[in-house]
Amino acid sequence: MNKRVIRVWDLPTRVFHWLLVLAVAGAIITGELRGELFPWHGRFGIAILGLLVFRLAWGVVGSTYARFSSFIPSRLTIRHYLDGAWLGAGHNPLGALSVLAMLGVLLLQAGTGLFSSAPRDKFQGPLYELAGKALSHTISNLHEFIFNFTIAFLVLHVTAIAYYVRIKKKNLVPAMLTGNAEVDDDAAQPAQGGGPLALIVALALGIGTVWLIGSGTLLALLSR
Ligand code: HEM
Ligand code: HEM
Repeated sequence: MNKRVIRVWDLPTRVFHWLLVLAVAGAIITGELRGELFPWHGRFGIAILGLLVFRLAWGVVGSTYARFSSFIPSRLTIRHYLDGAWLGAGHNPLGALSVLAMLGVLLLQAGTGLFSSAPRDKFQGPLYELAGKALSHTISNLHEFIFNFTIAFLVLHVTAIAYYVRIKKKNLVPAMLTGNAEVDDDAAQPAQGGGPLALIVALALGIGTVWLIGSGTLLALLSR
């Protein structure tokens, strides 16, 4: 078994990750401080939705290890991993589950935010009018409730990475910065695919989402 360094995370996946970190931090800080910062909370939240749509598309058309098909685990791969017999590259099977959970909870968090409202701070999500006052009130409570899960998954994510550094003596962070990782699996190949056309499609979907919501076009289309 040879240890080799190969390209695992393509540039778009890395840029996505660190932009997501910034946007989620921004949304949490402005959500907690409220008041005049609420419009910024909305902007960070819509940016997060755009990033998530980009990532969902990139999970289909991106390069090898960014693709959902390469990391959605089966029971067998999870068992292999727990037995210490998993050697693959990219997200390990348990890490993959937590990534999917985090993407899902962030989608719910930002999705409910669109219909939420903070009357005392005179702030409404961009799709508030579709829900109306009573339903928006309920969805706002849901938005706050879901935040507990968002925080739980973020804590789990950072704890898992710290566990890898301290206990397993494997630092996963440099790979998310440089794209390259050391792999044990002789069969693992450097990431392939995710060319310029794929990037344009995924970017168009992500940026299109931000535009549709931010410009009010989505509200106009849905209110017809
Ligand atoms: C992943 C993205 C998001 C995160 C992490 C997040 C987080 C939060 C947090 C922490 C609060 C304060 C809850 C509290 O007072 O305890 C909040 C409230 C709120 N958020 Fe978000 N949010 C996100 C996305 C959005 C989006 C996209 C919008 C709308 C564009 C939005 C609109 C609101 C509104 C209107 C409130 C006030 C709700 C109330 O006071 O009942 N959020 N959010
Ligand atoms: C708001 C905070 C954060 C969020 C929302 C977040 C989200 C994510 C997501 C969605 C992925 C999957 C990447 C993909 O396949 O697209 C991921 C992976 C990763 N994140 Fe974060 N992250 C956060 C903070 C951090 C921090 C602070 C670090 C480093 C100290 C970090 C290091 C990593 C690493 C190393 C991976 C790859 C894990 C692996 O090798 O399987 N993340 N993160």
